[in-house]
Amino acid sequence: MSTAPRPAQPDPAPGPQHVAIIMDGNGRWAKARGLPRVAGHRRGADAVRRVVRGAGELGVPVLTLFAFSTENWGRPADEVSDLMGLLRHYLRNELEELHRNGARLRVIGNRDGLAGDIVRDISDAERLTGSNARIDVNICINYGARDEILRASRNLARRVAAGEIKPDDIDEARFERELLTAGLPDPDLLIRTSGEQRISNFLLWQCAYAELVFVDTLWPDFGKEHLEQAIAEFRRRERRYGGVRG
Ligand code: FPP
Repeated sequence: MSTAPRPAQPDPAPGPQHVAIIMDGNGRWAKARGLPRVAGHRRGADAVRRVVRGAGELGVPVLTLFAFSTENWGRPADEVSDLMGLLRHYLRNELEELHRNGARLRVIGNRDGLAGDIVRDISDAERLTGSNARIDVNICINYGARDEILRASRNLARRVAAGEIKPDDIDEARFERELLTAGLPDPDLLIRTSGEQRISNFLLWQCAYAELVFVDTLWPDFGKEHLEQAIAEFRRRERRYGGVRG
């Protein structure tokens, strides 16, 4: 065995602090099997369970999943109802496991448009898991980034009109405090499944510097190993934040 000192290994690039995922491809997954779209969404909900567990095991501190957009209300009524049913089921049935595994659950989006029982389930889940610190799991429901930015702007405009703050007091930090993600780090890795390469009104402010990883896998087939591959891709990229190569 050689006794020559081994060259120092470079520190591995740090992993992402916040992974955001646009879960896409449930409908195509179902269509390819001759199944109704709801079957794809059900398998999509299974993927949510797998990925939340996998993210915890991989040491991802914050995971944000886009489950229902402000635009998704435009889908056929029975599909909207199926999706709401799955969200309701998730909030009720996964809560114990999330809590046991140290997940802090937060639902991001406009709650005004949601059914009363879902809003109550969200509040209960957030209250129960509020002190957990192993992983933040954020589920975006009735979320749209433009809507979020407009609401933040209106709130600040009201404060200016009331004389509470001056226009020049509004800097990035002040603006971020009005967003639904207040207190969370920005996503540094944004994944979209199913081969589509769009951001679709998701976390537009917060993803200003996110690395984008688009994968062909349809969401119902996505699992911990795909998340691990996306994280490996993230680690290979050189992040410059508008600066120059070091
Ligand atoms: C996109 O697939 C997916 C959605 C609009 C909904 C995402 C919902 C889930 C994964 C299930 C429920 C979520 C939780 C948190 C339990 P698509 O229907 O647009 O697929 P397509 O583009 O192939 O038609």
